[in-house]
Amino acid sequence: MKTILVTGSSGLIGSEAVEHFDRQGHCVIGVDNNMRQVFFGAQGDTTWNLNRLKNSTKHFQHANLDIRDRAALDELFKANRFDLIVHCAAQPSHDKARDIPILDFEVNALGTLNLLEATRQHCRDAVFILMSTNKVYGDSPNEIPLHELETRYDYARPQDSAGVNESCRIDQTLHSLFGASKAAADLVAQEYGRYFGMNTCIFRGGCLTGPSHSGVELHGFLSYLVRVALNDGTYSVFGYKAKQVRDNIHSHDVVRAIEEFAANPRPGEVYNLGGGRGNSISMLEAIARIADLTGKKLNWRYVDEARKGDHICYISDLRKFQSHYPEWKITRDLDTIFREIIAAQRAEHSFGSAR
Ligand SMILES: NC(=O)c1ccc[n+]([C@@H]2O[C@H](COP(=O)([O-])OP(=O)(O)OC[C@H]3O[C@@H](n4cnc5c(N)ncnc54)[C@H](O)[C@@H]3O)[C@@H](O)[C@H]2O)c1
Repeated sequence: MKTILVTGSSGLIGSEAVEHFDRQGHCVIGVDNNMRQVFFGAQGDTTWNLNRLKNSTKHFQHANLDIRDRAALDELFKANRFDLIVHCAAQPSHDKARDIPILDFEVNALGTLNLLEATRQHCRDAVFILMSTNKVYGDSPNEIPLHELETRYDYARPQDSAGVNESCRIDQTLHSLFGASKAAADLVAQEYGRYFGMNTCIFRGGCLTGPSHSGVELHGFLSYLVRVALNDGTYSVFGYKAKQVRDNIHSHDVVRAIEEFAANPRPGEVYNLGGGRGNSISMLEAIARIADLTGKKLNWRYVDEARKGDHICYISDLRKFQSHYPEWKITRDLDTIFREIIAAQRAEHSFGSAR
C-alpha cells in the first residue's frame, strides 16, 4: 500500500486520481481548499465533488489546505511519507489570470515550487507528477501552417498530422499570464528532475475533461458546453470562425498515464497528453454533436475576436508518451466522453442540484 498525495483533489483530475488509487487500496490524502469557487464563483464550487468522494472512497482523507501555505505543507509532509504526489491544484484559466495575475502566479508557480521543495526535503524518492498545460507553448502552435476545411482547421503539412510534439518552442511567444505561470511551474519541475535527479514528470495537457468537471465559461469547455445546452443558455464562441480544434482526453486516461509513469519513472520528462487526433473536435463540430446526442439545439453567438493567446488548432502528439509507456492508450472516445458528461449533468438535474 502506497501513500499518495493528490493536490486539487476536489477538481476534475484530482478527484479521478483519488478514486482510482483509493480503489486499489492505497492511502490517499487530498489537498483542496475549494479555490475554484474563489476563481469562478458558485458554479466553480467543488464541494459537491468532495462530498461525492467522501461517499465513494474507503481510505481517502481530505485536508483543507492552501498550497501557498508552506508551513502547513511542511506539517503535512512531516506527518506522512508520500510515495507519489499528483499535483493538480491550480488556477486553471487562461482568461481569468488577466484579472488576478499575482494570485495566479502564487498558486501556479509558487505553489508548485512549495510542493517540489517539500518533496525534496521529506520524501525525495517519491514520484512527483505536475499537471502542466499546452499553454506553455503560447502561440507557437499557431505558426504551424493550417488549411481551412468546412467545419474545422487542420494542419496543412502531412508531417504535422500527428500534432504538436514536445520540441515545440515555449519562449518568445504570447502565452497569457496563465501560460507564463504554468511555464514557470513546468520548468521548475523539470529542474527538480534534471538538477536534483528527482522523479518528476510534466504532463502538458490538451483539453482534459470528464463528468466530474465543475465546468464554467472560463474553464472546462465540453462540460460547460453541455451545461449550456441542457439549460437552454447561450454559448459564446470567440473567433476563428468557430473552427478552432481541441483534442479531448477523459480524466480516466489522464490518471492511467500518471499510473504508468509512477510505476516506471523517468526523471524530469515532459510529455504532451491530450486526446490526440482521434479525440479532436472543432467548436462547430462539438456544437452539432451535442445537439445530436441531447436532442437539444444549442444557442450560440459568435464573437468576432479570438481570445488572446488562444490556439487555432491544437492536437497533442502522443507518440513520445506511447513509446515510453506502450501499455497506455486512449480508452474513451469522444462520443463516450460526451455521453458520460450528458448523463452526469442530466442526473444532477433530475435529483435537484447536488452542486
Ligand atoms: N482541464 C483542462 O482542460 C486542463 C488542460 C490542461 C492542463 N490542466 C491542468 O491540470 C490540472 C488539473 O486541472 P482540472 O481541470 O482538474 O482543474 P480543476 O479546477 O477542476 O481542479 C483544480 C482544483 O485545485 C483546487 N485549488 C486551486 N488552488 C488551490 C490552492 N491554492 N490550494 C489548494 N487547492 C487549490 C481547486 O479548488 C480545484 O478543486 C491543473 O493544473 C490544470 O492547469 C487542465
